[in-house]
Amino acid sequence: MIHVSEVKVSEIAKITGQDKSIVSKHFKNYPSGMVKRVNNRVVGISPESVNEYLKDSGYNYFEQASIILLANICGGVGKTTGTNNITSGLRRVVHRDHPIIAIDADPQASFTKHVFSEMAPDKDLLLIDFLEGRASIEDILTPLDNNIWFLKSNLNQAFIERILSKPQDIKNSMLKLYNAIFEKFGNTTKIIQDHNPSLNSILASSICAIHQINPNILRALLIPMRSDSYAINGAQKVLREHEILTETFSLSGEIDVHCYFSCMDNRVSTVTQVLDITKDNKEIVKHLSPVIIRFSDEVHKSIADSINVYTKSPNNKAAVDFNELIHHVFSYKKS
Ligand SMILES: Nc1ncnc2c1ncn2[C@@H]1O[C@H](COP(=O)(O)OP(=O)(O)OP(=O)(O)O)[C@@H](O)[C@H]1O
Ligand SMILES: [Mg+2]
Repeated sequence: MIHVSEVKVSEIAKITGQDKSIVSKHFKNYPSGMVKRVNNRVVGISPESVNEYLKDSGYNYFEQASIILLANICGGVGKTTGTNNITSGLRRVVHRDHPIIAIDADPQASFTKHVFSEMAPDKDLLLIDFLEGRASIEDILTPLDNNIWFLKSNLNQAFIERILSKPQDIKNSMLKLYNAIFEKFGNTTKIIQDHNPSLNSILASSICAIHQINPNILRALLIPMRSDSYAINGAQKVLREHEILTETFSLSGEIDVHCYFSCMDNRVSTVTQVLDITKDNKEIVKHLSPVIIRFSDEVHKSIADSINVYTKSPNNKAAVDFNELIHHVFSYKKS
């Protein structure tokens, strides 16, 4: 399951740049059910109330449909951590009428194991069955609470490499999946997808798909990185793959690419130091996100307890940073 704590007044104040007292005053007379109170003080705000307040304040970017892919061919850089916490963080701030679809596209299935304590059982219909025409979108998605839907994974998914062997399959297969999702769930749906650390056909097909799908949908490729050369090279290879795919298939759709540091420890604390790590890599500098996820024990604890950084409370470094990343990705405007 994916449990999240409710949004605090201070979090909304941070997003909108308003004083906490103004936000507090606004929610003071909201009906219970829309907000949670302790001793007459607002201590939690429902996603619907957050959504309405942000929209009324001119922050309507959470209304858009979206596809967010997390990829780096280097292992252990925070792809699954990012997918898990972006999914959870989004569920706190977007209306629960907006479906959130979490896709585990990694045959190692760490995200599936994190949420369900085990890989998808062999009998389950999965992405591979949809791609081979044996299953519909309804067959492969597992409903969770609060309008979150999960596409599970297991080792059988590795055979997708065999079925996506022709260039036309790479170009069209994941596009077919996303179109089926938007057709069933509507145009406020948010898709977040995890990958394994390799340049495989699912990643290639997903990149092709987000280039070709309706441009009104927010389409972002997120590349988490640590500060070592393996992770930076892994990020560089994903950027190169993106470039090759756009050339090979003449893809013209513009997508957002954000390279972000996903586990920054205290030794690297300034922007100058971050730029120093990446300075020789022009492509990464070009796509470097101003948001950094700091190293946080809360991430370790949340993995050990199979929860997320918002489950208990949003008062920890990782929750604050993932909030910032989510807002950055959704409000990002290409210059
Ligand atoms: N912000 C953070 N603070 C502390 N630890 C972190 C942070 N982000 C990630 N980690 C640690 O890094 C490890 C790897 O993270 P994760 O499993 O998300 O990486 P991955 O890229 O999905 O790995 P794989 O390539 O194996 O799928 C986790 O065990 C987690 O504890
Ligand atoms: Mg992973």
